[in-house]
Amino acid sequence: MNVLLIGSGGREHALAAKLAASPLLKTLFCAPGNPGIADVAQCVVLDVTDHGKVVDFCRVNGIGLVVVGPEAPLVDGLADSLKAVGIPVFGPSAAAAQLEGSKAFTKALCDRMDIPTAAYGRFNNAPKAKNHVRQQGAPIVIKADGLAAGKGVTVAMTLEEAFAAIEDCFEGAFGDAGAEVVVEEFLEGEEASFFCICDGETALPLTTAQDHKRVGEGDTGPNTGGMGAYSPASIMSDALIEQTMESIIRPTMRGMAEQGMPFTGILYAGLMLTGSGPKLIEYNVRFGDPECQVIMPRLKDDLLVLMKAAADGVLSSMGVHWRDEAAATVVMCAPGYPASAKKGSVISLPRAIDLPEGVTIYHAGTAKKGDDLVANGGRVLNVTATGKTVTAALETAYQAVDLIEWPEGFCRRDIGWREIAREKEE
Ligand code: AMP
Ligand code: GLY
Repeated sequence: MNVLLIGSGGREHALAAKLAASPLLKTLFCAPGNPGIADVAQCVVLDVTDHGKVVDFCRVNGIGLVVVGPEAPLVDGLADSLKAVGIPVFGPSAAAAQLEGSKAFTKALCDRMDIPTAAYGRFNNAPKAKNHVRQQGAPIVIKADGLAAGKGVTVAMTLEEAFAAIEDCFEGAFGDAGAEVVVEEFLEGEEASFFCICDGETALPLTTAQDHKRVGEGDTGPNTGGMGAYSPASIMSDALIEQTMESIIRPTMRGMAEQGMPFTGILYAGLMLTGSGPKLIEYNVRFGDPECQVIMPRLKDDLLVLMKAAADGVLSSMGVHWRDEAAATVVMCAPGYPASAKKGSVISLPRAIDLPEGVTIYHAGTAKKGDDLVANGGRVLNVTATGKTVTAALETAYQAVDLIEWPEGFCRRDIGWREIAREKEE
């Protein structure tokens, strides 16, 4: 089968590597890809906002499955355009992608299906939002509705911080995403990411991971797309997974189908594990980045088979199997990230044979400049390792980080600190 993968980050490099290992694969194309993906796929220039062009490409190249990595093309209805002409696609319709694209949509679904989540109010002007905040008190959470690249959320510890965030939203700091503001109850607990693969009806639990959103060690500083991750997250016990399936995931699948927008693709639940059970913080409609990079190396099954089964609506007969190993990723960033990353610094990677066993370096924001590999984005490299434990995987990942010659690059040195502490206790 010929496959077209859409995206250019570390997530897509991890997906590409896994798809490339499938015996069913003939040719893997990736639009636009990156220099790392180019090792395992044929990178192509294709304007994915022009759905007609994507359809033409698929027809000319006999594409049997389109896999969409990031959320933007999904929210933009690329899956609908492909399905309308009979091209199989792994990823939700625009209607179903509202689970990520609109916080208000997800909150309304939670209300209807009785899904545990933070109490909230929704406002279209600043005075009303501030009034609500005054009544509720701090800490409290302010969110711009819509996609704001993970930067539209303020966990305000004081009323003043909350007011400032509300003003930012309505003054257009997040563009159209801030036209509506969701004000949420502050949930206390530890966060975990939980992933399911879905075919419109069936949701099969995949696995868990934990991301590190803040740029600084000790979880300080501004939010980023994610500075590192590990999988599995042992805090998500089997009992908590079953509770999440029962109280959150299955009602979501039912509710979406009832609304005529069945969910296909990856359902990624951001959870807060509170004293009164798991609560939904948010949904994403695709794999996390960098969570995907720690999930793919642990997956025993053929990803292409699973994704095709999801696209064809036949997941209920499938099982998912995992290596008895942990994986961890350290994200290396360009200086200035997340405010404004400096592009162009030269990176020298070790040869594959010089890397410790179990290490893969996924490319995220890299580019080729002549013979040089250069930084071309905020998050640039994802150094991933497997190991018996998360602690072991991280030790190996940091050994590999130290072999990379990139004086300008930086990373957090404390990825996985919660899990390492838990493993020490055992
Ligand atoms: P989101 O973009 O909705 O995932 O929010 C980004 C981050 O803000 C989450 O990963 C949490 O760390 C934090 N957050 C969001 N909502 C809440 C909440 N209701 N209570 C506490 N923290 C939250
Ligand atoms: N790492 C967080 C995300 O992909 O949304």
